[in-house]
Amino acid sequence: MRLDRWLANQPCFNRAKAQQLLAQGRITVDGQVCRDGLHEVGRFQQIDLDQQPLQAAQTARYYLLHKPRGVVSATRHSQHKTVIDLLQVPQAEELHLAGRLDLNTSGLLLISNDGLWTRRLTLPRSRLAKHYWLRTEQPIDPACVSDFAHGLLLEGDPRPTLPATLHLLDSHSARLTLHEGRHHQIKRMFACYHNPVRDLHREAIGSLQLGDLPYASWRELSSEEVQRLSREAGAETY
Ligand code: URA
Repeated sequence: MRLDRWLANQPCFNRAKAQQLLAQGRITVDGQVCRDGLHEVGRFQQIDLDQQPLQAAQTARYYLLHKPRGVVSATRHSQHKTVIDLLQVPQAEELHLAGRLDLNTSGLLLISNDGLWTRRLTLPRSRLAKHYWLRTEQPIDPACVSDFAHGLLLEGDPRPTLPATLHLLDSHSARLTLHEGRHHQIKRMFACYHNPVRDLHREAIGSLQLGDLPYASWRELSSEEVQRLSREAGAETY
């Protein structure tokens, strides 16, 4: 939110008072005087008036989870265990998912209480690469390699898929890189060839690998990893 709006929304101020405090240089954001009312602030910033806190900065948390099959990518669900249940961290109600995996898909999932970050990573224009390993029921038609590279028109979608890279590993398994995340996208791409996907696993997002993180476990991301992913997603600053 813009700093001038954030200040004007505080019970003790109105818009005129907010402008005055800014002009007088009495407001600091993360310890720096800020006179620019257009400056964007959020929950993770410390905002002070005359060195007295108006808002204490909350800690941003970023998690990488190895999602197992059978666990739903949602913050709550009436029937299935959710990925948030697996984390078992405090203030779980503040968490957002950066994209989803189907119930029977395993692999890398990103979760954070920083909604701006998860949104940036999943915006269609971010084109962040998602890397999958998959196994199909029938032998993979070699034509898939060039068809996926050109883009497929999936049933019900107005636009073809973005170019995707398919590397065949053997007759039934492959690695596939997508730069978007449509609903059930990989299953629908292979459905065009009447070839159901039996196993699907996400190995990496951008340059962030799942690595040897054990099944159903998680770890926190380093700030270097958080910023690297933001840059790869095309976010201006982080
Ligand atoms: N494509 C799918 O079909 N399912 C997933 O979970 C991810 C990509």
